[in-house]
Amino acid sequence: MDDGAADLRAAGAVAAAPGEPIPGLTPAQLAEFRAGAALFNKVFSPAEGLGPLFNENQCSACHTDPAPGGTGEQRLRKATRFLPPNRCDTLTAEGGENVRTQATPLLRARGIRRETVPAAATEQARFTVPFLFGLGLAEAVPEAELAARADAADRDHDGISGRLGRDSDGRIGRFGRKAETPGIAEFIADALHFEMGLTSPLRPDEGTVNGRPFPPGSDPTPEPEVSQRQLDLLAAYVRFLAPIRRAPARDAEDSATIARGERIFHEIGCAACHTPVLRTGPSPVAALDHKAVALYSDLLLHDMGPALRNVCGRASTPTEIRTAILMGLRYRRELLHDGRALGIPEAVAAHGGEATRARAAFQALPLAQRLALLRFLDTL
Ligand code: HEC
Ligand code: HEC
Repeated sequence: MDDGAADLRAAGAVAAAPGEPIPGLTPAQLAEFRAGAALFNKVFSPAEGLGPLFNENQCSACHTDPAPGGTGEQRLRKATRFLPPNRCDTLTAEGGENVRTQATPLLRARGIRRETVPAAATEQARFTVPFLFGLGLAEAVPEAELAARADAADRDHDGISGRLGRDSDGRIGRFGRKAETPGIAEFIADALHFEMGLTSPLRPDEGTVNGRPFPPGSDPTPEPEVSQRQLDLLAAYVRFLAPIRRAPARDAEDSATIARGERIFHEIGCAACHTPVLRTGPSPVAALDHKAVALYSDLLLHDMGPALRNVCGRASTPTEIRTAILMGLRYRRELLHDGRALGIPEAVAAHGGEATRARAAFQALPLAQRLALLRFLDTL
């Protein structure tokens, strides 16, 4: 669904520089943001619960560029078994879909250095690190607003369907590239568990090594390794990270080019998935309450065709993926879920499936129009 008027509202959208808190927080909320930032940047040691299996020892080891909450060079390894037409085995019996690549000294001393990709996997993917900017506003968008944009049966015949993501209990999901996590706190509990091997009240189990229990003595720290208070502070930090402000035009001519590029973005169908602006609903936090956020994503799953095939999810096939958030695009170098594209034309060239028409329209653009569109995208 396209909403041409949305860009006019984008001017009023909440935004700041990367890494800054949302404008309008109370002093108490700012204090939570700062305490959460300290935890986000904290290096956890094995004695504090890191591991036994993990990928990195701090959130900001991955989410770091151009500011904490940003992207990084790491790739998260995923593996699943897809049973067509629509069943996904997340390989829980063999340790789950997340393959962790590092082990603590105590686990290494017991001969285990990392997890391996389960033999039953039918697909593997490597996910790049996404920006966390503006996610608190994304969380505050009412489910009804997301549902209103979904068009699973393509009733408007524009070739674009868009489905709501779901978690394993059938609740509507919006976080992660498979859109299967409903809320920020839950995603963080998963990140602590999978990326850092830290248990929390939301995920008190230490897990396994490819489905086998950890050897005795390899995990001496009592659960939960992260307290409810620490989890709340991390969630407050991510929730209060501001969306990224658009880059200003250089001069009047540049401003006209950007406006032209923005119109083309709508005309050729990019905005049908990369929804410029979403609106939040009621929130107890005034800074999140009834605000506009220019994410340039509908937060829905789309079938993107075979070139972007990745893993399957709890409610998604391997070719479905959540619309990438284009806000902050000018700060990103490695595009698409696996980082294979180093520029926008290359990223669009890989768009297939529901985006086939938009890709063809992009590739048919006369040079001047293509440059105007690219100039617009470079201000995001
Ligand atoms: C090893 C690298 C790594 C570490 C460490 C890491 N993350 Fe992430 N993070 C990722 C990747 C990769 C994704 C994308 C996962 C996906 O799409 O399913 C992600 C996704 C997220 C998301 C969801 C973003 C979205 O657009 O839906 C949140 C929130 C998040 N991370 C928070 C954290 C927090 C908080 C920590 C520390 C507790 C953390 N991450 C540690 C790599 C990392
Ligand atoms: C059918 C929905 C859909 C349409 C239409 C669409 N996109 Fe996308 N776009 C996506 C999805 C989904 C991704 C994520 C793909 C991935 O990560 O592998 C994406 C990724 C991107 C990226 C990479 C962003 C990043 O950070 O990795 C760019 C750039 C982009 N799209 C631009 C465009 C442009 C320009 C158009 C119009 C020509 C367009 N898209 C049309 C769904 C769409």
